[in-house]
Amino acid sequence: MRDLIGFFDSGVGGLSVLHTARTLLPGESFLYYGDNGNAPYGPRPLSEIRALAEQGIDRLMARDIKALVIACNTATSAYADILRAKTSLPVIGMEPAIKPAQLSRTGGYVLALATRATLSLPKFQRLMSKYGECVLPVVGEGFVELVERDRMDSDEALDTVQRVLAPYAGMPVDSVVLGCTHYPFLLHAIRRTFPDCAIYDGRMGTVLQLKRMLEARGLLSDEAHGSIQLETSGGPDILPLMRRLMDYLEDNDL
Ligand code: DGL
Repeated sequence: MRDLIGFFDSGVGGLSVLHTARTLLPGESFLYYGDNGNAPYGPRPLSEIRALAEQGIDRLMARDIKALVIACNTATSAYADILRAKTSLPVIGMEPAIKPAQLSRTGGYVLALATRATLSLPKFQRLMSKYGECVLPVVGEGFVELVERDRMDSDEALDTVQRVLAPYAGMPVDSVVLGCTHYPFLLHAIRRTFPDCAIYDGRMGTVLQLKRMLEARGLLSDEAHGSIQLETSGGPDILPLMRRLMDYLEDNDL
């Protein structure tokens, strides 16, 4: 029987989703591939993002996985529909959690933070046409790079995040949506500008959808303890960074 669940991201961001999956589905075994050698995807043109996502995901598909999680909003927006048309494998993607943020809005704004590519693609535009009232899209310029370079708790991170959020700091903001899987790693910096806002991200929704799809196909593991394999297209520093980030998620209750 196929046992592994494939996880794909442009880099280390998808680990934030993997962490949630491991907590909710402790008996499953995960194979994570980060295309760190080509991150970030967000500033690239659509054709390049599609080609890179295809290459990385094909690599996972060749490993006999039973389901695939595209743990990257950017790759989901660019490539999930194309992928679903060519595989019968369960494919679960990410989407910025604008809907729950909108449904809980109490009169202020919702800041939708994501990459430039995610915000410009039709998936986000469709979400906006349904749930976009008082939602302000904001590109997290430089955010992914900070996390990829292991600088998320630095003064540089604080400066970068504060510079991006400064135009909204004096506004009535109800909630901030983390529409990129790298952004939960910058939560402390984001909280400095918006200490009291609700924060939404799509991780739990994605993992619950994964669970439902596995259940519906009789594919849930009956093991007590699963495992995690991490792989990357990046250099020798990346695997140790990935392991540290998994601990960081655990230690900071993210
Ligand atoms: N983790 C990816 C996302 O969720 C980051 C994209 C990038 O590499 O720019 O969008």
